[in-house]
Amino acid sequence: MSYINFDDSKISKFINDNEVPEMQALVTAANEQLRQGTGAGADFRDWINLPSDFDKAEFDRIKKAATKIQSDSEVLVVIGIGGSYLGAKMAVDFLNGSFYNSKSKDDRRGVQVFFAGNSLSASYLRELQDFIGDRDFSVNVISKSGTTTEPSIAFRILKEKLIQKYGEAEAAHRIYATTDAKHGALRKEADAAGYETFIIPDGVGGRFSVLTPVGLLPIAATGADLDQLMKGAEQAANDYVDPDLSKNDAYRYAAIRNILYRKGYVTELCENYEPNLRMFSEWWKQLMGESEGKDQKGIYPSSANFSTDLHSLGQYIQEGLRNLFETVIKVKQPPYNVDIPMDDENLDGLNYLKGQSMNEVNDKAYEGVVLAHNDGGVPVLTVEVPDESEFSLGYLIYFFEIAVGISGYLNGINPFNQPGVEAYKKNMFALLGKPGFEDLAEKLNKELEK
Ligand code: PA5
Repeated sequence: MSYINFDDSKISKFINDNEVPEMQALVTAANEQLRQGTGAGADFRDWINLPSDFDKAEFDRIKKAATKIQSDSEVLVVIGIGGSYLGAKMAVDFLNGSFYNSKSKDDRRGVQVFFAGNSLSASYLRELQDFIGDRDFSVNVISKSGTTTEPSIAFRILKEKLIQKYGEAEAAHRIYATTDAKHGALRKEADAAGYETFIIPDGVGGRFSVLTPVGLLPIAATGADLDQLMKGAEQAANDYVDPDLSKNDAYRYAAIRNILYRKGYVTELCENYEPNLRMFSEWWKQLMGESEGKDQKGIYPSSANFSTDLHSLGQYIQEGLRNLFETVIKVKQPPYNVDIPMDDENLDGLNYLKGQSMNEVNDKAYEGVVLAHNDGGVPVLTVEVPDESEFSLGYLIYFFEIAVGISGYLNGINPFNQPGVEAYKKNMFALLGKPGFEDLAEKLNKELEK
C-alpha cells in the first residue's frame, strides 16, 4: 500500500471503468522508455535513482555548510530562478510554515531564508537589502548555466554588499555556489574566488533538482531533516516501480490525466487547503508545464489556494468553461489545530460548530467543494499526504516527478527538455546589447519600431 492516499473516485462521471485499464499497454511502454532510457531526453533521467544514489560526501558537506551558516549568519539569501528556485522555496514553506522568517531566533530551527534573483524587480532587491540591514548574512547562489540574467544581476549586487561588509576574503567564505561541475560563468568565478561549491548533476534538469544541492542546502539551513526528506523520496521510488496501474498510483495519476486531456480537459488546477502548500503548486506548475507544454500540446498547469480562491476563482471552476480538472493536495494531519470557541451571545451564529475544530471545518469545506465541483462537471483527483513532515514531502516530490515522466511519454513528447525557455532569454540578451546577439537585436528593434 502506498504511503499517500490517491483518490480517483471523483472521475467516475467522466471516465468509464474500462478506460484506465485500457491504458495499461501504453503505460507499460512509457515505463520502458523511462526506465530503459529508450525515450527522448534519456540523458536527463538521473533524478529517478537520486533518492538512493546521491553523493553522500557532498550530502554531509551540505549539512556542515548549513551548520556554519546557522552559526555565522542570521539570514541566508538564496539566489536563483525557475528550477534553481522553486523547489527550495516550496520545501522551505512546506516544512516551516507561513511565519518561519518572522519567528524569533529561539523559535526557529535555523536561519531566516529569503529568495532573490527570481525577478528583475529593483524594488524587491532594494527592500531585501534594507531588510537585511546590518545583520550577518550569507548567500547561496544557484545556477546551472551560470549565465541566467536574473540571478546573475542579484548575485553581483549582493556580492558587492557582502564585500563592503566583510571584505573580499570573508565574503568569499559566506558565498556558497550551487552550479555545474565544470562549465559556466558561475563555476569559473567560484573556482577563482574560492567559494564552497555544490554540484547540480548533469543528468538532472532544473525542475527535477529539488533533491540535489539546489534544494538541499536552503532546506538544511532552516534546520529541516534532510535524511527524512531523502528517505520519503526513496520509499516513493520503491513504491512506484511496478507499472501495473492497479498497484501504482503515480502511474495511475499519469494515465488518468492523459485520458482527461484527450477528452478536452486541458487545464489542471493544483489545489491545497493549507497556505504552507501554496508554493508547492508553483513548483508543481513548473514541473508539469515545462515537462509537458511542447509540440503545441500539453495540459496547462494552473493552481488555486482554498478556501481563499473559492471566493475568487470558485465561480469559474463551478460554472465556467468545462475544460478543467482538479488535483487536490490534501494534508491529513496539519501541524496544528485550533478549537472554535463557544460564545454565549452567538451573535455571529457560529455556535452550531460546537465541539468542532478548524481542521474539521476545513475538511468539510474540502468535501463540500469536491462534491459541488464534481456536480458542476469538474473531475477531481486527490493526493492525500499524512502530514507536513520531511518524509511526506520527499514522498510527494517523487510521486509527481515519476508521474510526469510517464505522463510526458504517454503524450508523445520529450518530458526532459525545455527549448521554449530559451526564446525570451535570447530576445532579452539581444535587446540589452549582449555581445554575440547583434543580428537578433537588429531584427527585434525593427519589429518594435513598427
Ligand atoms: O528548468 C529549467 O531549466 C529552468 O527553469 C532553469 O532552471 C532556469 O532557467 C534557471 O537556469 P539556471 O539554473 O541555468 O540559472
